[in-house]
Amino acid sequence: MVCTRPTLEKYVELYLKRSATPTYPKDAMAIMFMLDISPGMRVLEAGSGSGALSLYLARCVGERGSVVSVEKREDHSLAARANYSLWAKAHSFPDRIVDWHVGDMSADTEEALRPSEIIRAKKLSKELSDESFDGVALDMAEPGPSLATVARVLKPGRFVVCYLPNITQVLQTLSMVKIQNLNLQVVRTVECQMRNWTFEPNPRIVTKAMRLKEDLPEQIITVARPSHAQDTHTAFLVQFTKTA
Ligand SMILES: C[S@@+](CC[C@H](N)C(=O)[O-])C[C@H]1O[C@@H](n2cnc3c(N)ncnc32)[C@H](O)[C@@H]1O
Repeated sequence: MVCTRPTLEKYVELYLKRSATPTYPKDAMAIMFMLDISPGMRVLEAGSGSGALSLYLARCVGERGSVVSVEKREDHSLAARANYSLWAKAHSFPDRIVDWHVGDMSADTEEALRPSEIIRAKKLSKELSDESFDGVALDMAEPGPSLATVARVLKPGRFVVCYLPNITQVLQTLSMVKIQNLNLQVVRTVECQMRNWTFEPNPRIVTKAMRLKEDLPEQIITVARPSHAQDTHTAFLVQFTKTA
C-alpha cells in the first residue's frame, strides 16, 4: 500500500468545505488550457464560491503571478479564503497570490451601497481600472451583466471562459454579448467528458481456474469496462477572446 498526500484534485473532491458548488477538477483543467495561462500572469475570477478554481488558477500563475477573486457573498468569500489557506499552509504555498474581494462583478454603480460596501467597491474598482488581465474565469449563474467590465479589463487577444451548467445559460450569455455589442468573440463552446474505467478479474475465469486447481497469477486482469458510476455532465465551457 502507498500513502500519498491528497492531490489538489482529491482535496477539491473530498476535503474542500462546500459553501457553493466548486468547479470540478476536469473542468478546471480545461479552463486552464482555454485561458492559456502560464506562470507570472494576472487573472480575474468571479465568483470565488468555495475557492476550488482559485486554487487551480493560483497554482498555474505561481508566485510571480496574481489572481483577483471577486465574490458577491461575504460568507462565500470567507469560506473560499479558508479553503485556500488550509491547502496553502499544508503545501507551503504562498497565500498572497490571491487578492480576495467581496463585491458584485455586474455592479457598475456605487449608489445605494452602505459605507463599508462603498470602501470595498472602491477597492475593487481600482483593481478593475485598466486593461491588465491576461485571462478571466467566470463561474456564476448569470455572467452576462459582468461581461462589459470583463471586456474592459481583459488584454486584447486574451481569453474569457464562462462555466455554465445548462445550455439555457449559454444561450443567454451569447445573447448578452450581442445585445451589449461587446468586443468579445466566441472561440468555442465545449463540454468536458471524462470516463472512468474499471479493471478487475473475471469471476468466471477465476472460478474455473479454482475448479481445475490451476494457479492464476494474481495480477491477471480479465475484465475492463467503463465504470457504472460516472460523473457525466457538469458544465459547458464557453471561451471568448477580446477583439481590438
Ligand atoms: C458556483 S459558485 C463558484 C464556485 C467556484 N468556482 C469554486 O470553484 O469553488 C458561484 C459563485 O458566484 C457568486 N456570484 C454570483 N453572481 C456574482 C456576481 N455578480 N459577482 C460576484 N460573485 C457572484 C455566487 O455567490 C457563488 O458563490
